[in-house]
Amino acid sequence: MRISGSVAMVTGASRGIGKETARALAAGGAAVALVARNQEHLESLVAELRPGRACAIPADLTDTRQCRIAFETAINRFGRVDILVNNAGMADGGDLLTQPVEDLARIVDVNFRAPVVLTRLAAERMAAQGGGHIVNVSSLAGVTGIPGAATYAGTKAALRLFTSSLRVELNEQGIYLTDVVLGFVKTGMLEQVENSSRVGTLFNRARRLRLMHDTPAPVVARAIVDAIEARQTVVVIPGYARLLYLPLQGLSRRFVQWLTPS
Ligand SMILES: NC(=O)c1ccc[n+]([C@@H]2O[C@H](COP(=O)([O-])OP(=O)(O)OC[C@H]3O[C@@H](n4cnc5c(N)ncnc54)[C@H](OP(=O)(O)O)[C@@H]3O)[C@@H](O)[C@H]2O)c1
Repeated sequence: MRISGSVAMVTGASRGIGKETARALAAGGAAVALVARNQEHLESLVAELRPGRACAIPADLTDTRQCRIAFETAINRFGRVDILVNNAGMADGGDLLTQPVEDLARIVDVNFRAPVVLTRLAAERMAAQGGGHIVNVSSLAGVTGIPGAATYAGTKAALRLFTSSLRVELNEQGIYLTDVVLGFVKTGMLEQVENSSRVGTLFNRARRLRLMHDTPAPVVARAIVDAIEARQTVVVIPGYARLLYLPLQGLSRRFVQWLTPS
């Protein structure tokens, strides 16, 4: 899909990967609808982008009603949505038994329920428009699992299967999907999960063994834009993590468990 002249809705655009993706899409000539809870951060990004070609849509995506209002606000503002980037996400703060039930429910809601709701709304609109592109930002955690971040890993695995299961039916409508499978990306979320000792130890071991490095968020943003332009179905970053992603899923799961302190 051509980025120039398109309208993109990016969730989680107030910081991290979402903010960089919005910047990259805007640099390519898209109008961008920016969704997250922090209005101040969204508005400062709007001020940085081309006047009239960006709007801030504050919303808490754990709430289905707010997902719907956010989508309708984007349509009212720009008349269409050609690209949806389901990027907003939250990670676990540690082991399951240390997590308040409400926090776990919010992780499921923002990481999985919101992308399902927004994909449903966007797909209907895109089908009527004659096509579109939906990007779902997932994680290697949804391939291998991560002890110490079980709910997060579960939502990301669910999102990946949702994306791949939808591909046939949405392609028939001219809508393309990209599953973005990420390793470590230098953002606030990475810093937050590293504070959990089990996940922090696992990540440091993976870095020491040179299995993973921290990718800058603008590199991920560029890959997302390229994937939309090329209608790429799967993006794995870092690229060599495809080895985990493709035929070795069972082996990689056991390997991650071996890396994890018990
Ligand atoms: N960083 C990594 O290493 C890594 C690895 C694999 C996958 N990912 C995935 O990449 C995506 C982006 O993560 P990131 O690293 O950029 O994290 P981040 O810097 O923490 O940003 C998360 C974004 O999600 C938004 N968000 C969180 N809860 C929300 C809610 N209830 N309603 C609306 N927006 C909400 C946040 O905005 P507000 O707080 O303003 O609402 C923020 O813009 C996530 O889906 C994450 O799972 C990241």
